[in-house]
Amino acid sequence: MPMQMVRNDITQMKVDAIVNAANNSLLGGGGVDGAIHRAAGPELLAECRTLGGCPTGEARITKGYRLPAKYVIHTVGPVWQGGGHGEAKLLEACYTNSLRLAAEKGCETVAFPMISTGVYGYPKDQALEIAIGAVSRFLFEHEMTVYLVVFTRGGMDTGRKLFPEIQEYIDDVYVSEHRDERRESIRRRRKAESFPEFSGLPEELPILSNITYDASFDMDAGMGMPAAKKPESLEDLLRRTDEGFTGMLLRKIDEKGMKDSDCYKKANISRKLFSKIRSDPEYRPSKPTALAFAVALELSLQETGELLKKAGFAISHSSKFDIIVEYFIKHRQYNIFKINEALFENDQPLLGRMD
Ligand code: APR
Repeated sequence: MPMQMVRNDITQMKVDAIVNAANNSLLGGGGVDGAIHRAAGPELLAECRTLGGCPTGEARITKGYRLPAKYVIHTVGPVWQGGGHGEAKLLEACYTNSLRLAAEKGCETVAFPMISTGVYGYPKDQALEIAIGAVSRFLFEHEMTVYLVVFTRGGMDTGRKLFPEIQEYIDDVYVSEHRDERRESIRRRRKAESFPEFSGLPEELPILSNITYDASFDMDAGMGMPAAKKPESLEDLLRRTDEGFTGMLLRKIDEKGMKDSDCYKKANISRKLFSKIRSDPEYRPSKPTALAFAVALELSLQETGELLKKAGFAISHSSKFDIIVEYFIKHRQYNIFKINEALFENDQPLLGRMD
């Protein structure tokens, strides 16, 4: 069920099947097609010759030969002609037909290049939308892990920023807070230079009024005050441990009237990992996993904070990752793949987990 975007050379991917962006002849070419044929060796071309070509939008399967992948699925993307020639439907069909073939062959892991976005000229941002849409629809019905392999470094190379409004948000909360930090550190340095004798001291002492004062620990019974309660034993305290991450997650799933499978699929989490979390009341997820569930459950920002706290985390404005996820939650946009697109564009870890 999970889908991830990765930057890689697809010929290096250790998956059950890689997809090739081929042409109608299936007899090789440049781009990713050339790279796959070079890495697989001449036996691949020999098998391709037996297939008799492939119409646009359809897919054919061969062995992987010298590739780490067991199979190569060859699909033929549409040539971009401005968008009015059924290109979107054909591109979608490439993904769906390739995934169907992979499922028929029992593949559990499949990697796609960005079909049609090279020589065939499909605009990359639109092609990515179609890829994400087609793959996520398929994954809702099938147990499979799918990688969208992006070859170029430094952003999606879409020719434009995919999420200008998110860049703005990052600038507002991240850049401005970091500018303040910079100012603050200059201020501290100046202060240390003027008063070198104080430079080793902490900048601020804790403010006492912020410390919660638990009167029951030191009240004196002899002064007309309530009798001192005996401090609870460690055993008692441990018995009262509040609901953990797993407890809160399962409770929220019930409260939202969701099925477990809807939740882990929406969270881009594998069934295997979900079962592990479910059976372990003390499970401590990573931050991306915890946030993936917050997104799947469509939690508010406050509820997200509560769920994260159960895993020992908090949303912080000193991390771009947190700011991007916060942006989507604040705007109640809970499509995890959209969020991952934005994270990927900003070189951040993605939400969800495959294992
Ligand atoms: N790994 C992953 N992605 C790659 C790799 C690689 N080794 N090499 C190229 N790509 C990316 C490109 O950056 C591009 O985004 O694959 C995407 C698809 O580009 P093309 O290979 O040009 O494929 P496409 O646009 O579908 O054109 C198909 O090209 O080589 C011919 O025979 C092929 O005629 C067919 C046409």
